[in-house]
Amino acid sequence: MAVIRAASTSLSFLASTSSSSSSRYCHCRPSLFTKFRFGPIFNISFAVTPFSSRRAKRMAHSTARATLGLTQPNKIDPPKISFAAKEIDLVQWKGDLLAVGVTEKDMAKDDDSKFKNSILQKLDSQLGGLLSEASSEEDFTGKAGQSTVLRLPGLGSKRVGLIGLGAAASAMVAYRNLGEAAAAAAKSTQASNVAITLASAEGIPAESKPVTASAIATGAILGTFEDSRFKSETKKPALKSVDIIGLGSGPEIEKKLKYADNVCSGIILGKELVNAPANVLTPGVLAEEASRIASEYSDVFTAKILDVEQCKELKMGSYLGVAAASTNPPHFIHLCYKPPNGNVKTKLALVGKGLTFDSGGYNIKTGAGCLIELMKFDMGGSAAVLGAAKALGQIKPAGVEVHFIVAACENMISGTGMRPGDILTASNGKTIEVTNTDAEGRLTLADALVYACNQGVEKIVDLATLTGACIVALGPSIAGVFTPSDDLAKEVFGASEASGEKLWRMPLEESYWESMKSGVADMVNSGSRQGGSIIAALFLKQFVDEKVQWMHIDMAGPVWNDKKKNATGFGISTLVEWVLKNSS
Ligand code: BES
Ligand code: MN
Ligand code: ZN
Repeated sequence: MAVIRAASTSLSFLASTSSSSSSRYCHCRPSLFTKFRFGPIFNISFAVTPFSSRRAKRMAHSTARATLGLTQPNKIDPPKISFAAKEIDLVQWKGDLLAVGVTEKDMAKDDDSKFKNSILQKLDSQLGGLLSEASSEEDFTGKAGQSTVLRLPGLGSKRVGLIGLGAAASAMVAYRNLGEAAAAAAKSTQASNVAITLASAEGIPAESKPVTASAIATGAILGTFEDSRFKSETKKPALKSVDIIGLGSGPEIEKKLKYADNVCSGIILGKELVNAPANVLTPGVLAEEASRIASEYSDVFTAKILDVEQCKELKMGSYLGVAAASTNPPHFIHLCYKPPNGNVKTKLALVGKGLTFDSGGYNIKTGAGCLIELMKFDMGGSAAVLGAAKALGQIKPAGVEVHFIVAACENMISGTGMRPGDILTASNGKTIEVTNTDAEGRLTLADALVYACNQGVEKIVDLATLTGACIVALGPSIAGVFTPSDDLAKEVFGASEASGEKLWRMPLEESYWESMKSGVADMVNSGSRQGGSIIAALFLKQFVDEKVQWMHIDMAGPVWNDKKKNATGFGISTLVEWVLKNSS
């Protein structure tokens, strides 16, 4: 039996009732932290005498909470769902809701209006034909997205739900949707015990059963999660346990369920980071959260947070140019994962754009559709990177070293900010004429990529909400992929197949660089509007060592779900899968 705890959401920095916000820093490796000067939260965390340490912690607490607009996010207890993979008779199963995933084919009936599918037939006969009757009345045909929940007597379960999987469920997304729909049905019926099964579980090959179960579990966890930290009233999810029936049991499936739970906890962290408004999630708070991951999994992580002075020493003029207008100072985040046994075969870097807010700067975002009110999501790349870090801190893959890098800052407007026309000098010595202050993400990534190359990594994947042009090209749910390396493309596309996240490879058309030439500097930061996402990728390429395999993922579209008005957690499961592909 696999009993796993669902995603733990221990964002105490965002939670008003937490008391442990700074005490955890004491577990950090002092050698890495004490050398640097931090903002108020950090430098007091290592005070030496007990008295000052206590006072420091109190102060840290109030500093972290003193957000603009007095917003103090609620502490939400992490949803705890226990999963068990069981092989029992559906009719015997006792609980609140039995959810059955059915394809359109499963719904086929014979001449006597009886189900042909043996599982549905068995349930139907136990229910005296009511299942078949009710499903026709409700016009349930098994199409993807359809679901119906019936309160019928005759089973061990209080309710039975039919959940449509579409024509034929083969893709993992269908199983994730099943888990999500079961969670939604549990929510609307206040069910705390749910069983999920498939009408044609028998048709699934044995080797695919564990991943099918983990896809269902992923859907159930993410479907149960609701980010209500910023609502004045919060509801606790009723769902406590999920039994997955008919897909086998034993250690292999348990391991997969545990993996799903670890990845989900990373995805939930990523969603919370993106959903948090910019008045709460400042660059300093993002850095604090990164350090928290490092101290929570201190057996495998070290953290380094660079302040403005340290970034100046590293000559990060491009990044600091963007940060110059803000009252909230920039924080350069670098987490390093090393495997528990120390042996490293491959070194990787994940780099994320971390604009906690993008006003556009002097080229301010104006007009309908500029989405300035959503620009808290401009740190979606960094949320993907840190979400992956949290998941990997639990999974602890062998043989890989992974660097997680975020040049976090805001793009604001003030007398100290960069002007259109200013020339910046990046840490690799290249000069950039800022023709548009709203093309700021690439300026921050430039120095982050140079820094990543200096870590001696073989491969870099960067993720960024980089261009509106990429949304125009690929729409809201597909990310653009840019890489000169076919090998790296193969790896990451393989990873995305397992994760179900949609990627599309785009060309790095060198002739488009023409419009990025400057009369006075090495390049401008904003050229022709045409092919805007390609040009942005070509800009990033100027800052990557040719010896390093590099990929840029423009996730401007998929970072946000417009319908749900919520973050998606995009990128995290693909990144985790990719790192595991590189582990040994
Ligand atoms: N963060 C934006 C990109 C963006 C826009 C993401 C809309 C999601 C939705 C980025 O910093 C930006 O402003 N890019 C400009 C670049 C242009 C000035 C060359 C853009 O896309 O308009
Ligand atoms: Mn911008
Ligand atoms: Zn931006």
